[in-house]
Amino acid sequence: MRYPTPSSTKLSSEGSPVTKHSSRRISIESVASSKGIHSRKQALKSRASRYDPPPVRIKIHGLPGYTGGSLPPDVVDPRPPPLNLDGLECIRTLGDGACGHVLLVQTRDCPNLDKLDRPGSLFAVKVLSKERMKLIDRKHPGDTNAERTRLSELPWSPWVNGVVGAFQDELNLYLMLEFIPSGCFHDVIQTRGPFNAATARFYFANIIAGLYFLHGEGIIHRDFKPANILVRPDGYLTIADFGYARLDDGSGTSTEWLMIGTPLYMAPEVLCYQHLTGCSVDWWAAGVTLYEMITKRSPFFGTDEDKIFKRIEAGRYKWPKGLRVGASLKSIVAGLLNTKVEDRLGVDTSVLDHPWLDNIDWDKMQVGRYLAPWIPETPEHTRTWLNKALPKQHCIPGLQLSIPPMHREWDDRLPKSRPEY
Ligand SMILES: Nc1ncnc2c1ncn2[C@@H]1O[C@H](COP(=O)(O)OP(=O)(O)O)[C@@H](O)[C@H]1O
Ligand SMILES: [Mg+2]
Repeated sequence: MRYPTPSSTKLSSEGSPVTKHSSRRISIESVASSKGIHSRKQALKSRASRYDPPPVRIKIHGLPGYTGGSLPPDVVDPRPPPLNLDGLECIRTLGDGACGHVLLVQTRDCPNLDKLDRPGSLFAVKVLSKERMKLIDRKHPGDTNAERTRLSELPWSPWVNGVVGAFQDELNLYLMLEFIPSGCFHDVIQTRGPFNAATARFYFANIIAGLYFLHGEGIIHRDFKPANILVRPDGYLTIADFGYARLDDGSGTSTEWLMIGTPLYMAPEVLCYQHLTGCSVDWWAAGVTLYEMITKRSPFFGTDEDKIFKRIEAGRYKWPKGLRVGASLKSIVAGLLNTKVEDRLGVDTSVLDHPWLDNIDWDKMQVGRYLAPWIPETPEHTRTWLNKALPKQHCIPGLQLSIPPMHREWDDRLPKSRPEY
């Protein structure tokens, strides 16, 4: 199991002094379970090795048949060859945001395709422009590549939208991700919220499991919000968009002078450039998300950024009048939205120990044996109408755009039969 059980976290957090680093220590120790000093040392060692310079090779996780490791020279490798860009065809745009396009691709019927990679298997591909990454690298040297290599090495987890592979051409880096067809959690809150306490508890437990997994792997998300959480077909949540994620280098300090994240979800320590780079910023954003689930509003909403930032700095938020919110739920939100980093829930004390989550059976949650409050209807992505323009072929030279069917050739939003150069 990749995240701590409530009892193991209790043990690991007991007696730990309140310091800037306590959040990291808790998350790492708790991953190692509570078997005593030896296992803690092991955890710290493995953590140290995590911060070795990242290997250049990009591993592929999650593909059927992949077992890892290398075979003796005389043994024929039974594993299917990894997919490459030639084996993929772009069929629609799923999202376009700050980092570039997210495209839906399907595997093509190409000669070296393994029978497990059936033609027509769907994946999401995030296109990151090399030009833009160079700019980021200039501001945060080494950050982007280290982060992406590390992400592609993460063990598979249901709570994280994992990187299945990474490719490149002369213009872009392409991150191939598991395709999650049911949309983002922000839309679920907007269309189905506000939630009652039981529904919010289920979703929040998913979020906790995801954050513990990431923090345990030494990754801080830094742009955690409902728009970056996807809803799986079984109704469980999975964390996506690691564009701003960074490795927790354990130093507890950073030279960054940039405010990273989305204003409504930024923690107060980010606003005053303290940048402890700890996982505290994710716990704050989780608190904002929980408040949104219950009220369908943002706790620190303001008409402009100045007002938002003032409210965040003061930690000032109100519960809507007339809304009945239990004391325990109020207390967990207050704990997460504590402006004092050291006292924030998740930093000094484990979120799992909060009484509001007492009834959650974490083993049951991990294996998905709870029935989700809502099972989304999965749209037929290959059939339904396109509402976002596809990129031009010359913008994604390595990735072939699909040829539109004859009866749709007139439609501007589809790629032309002949590539435009
Ligand atoms: N794996 C995926 N499966 C399906 N849709 C996705 C996937 N990843 C991203 N998307 C869609 O693309 C949108 C933008 O993706 P995101 O990774 O958040 O990029 P950005 O950095 O531009 O915000 C998401 O809101 C979602 O609708
Ligand atoms: Mg995003």
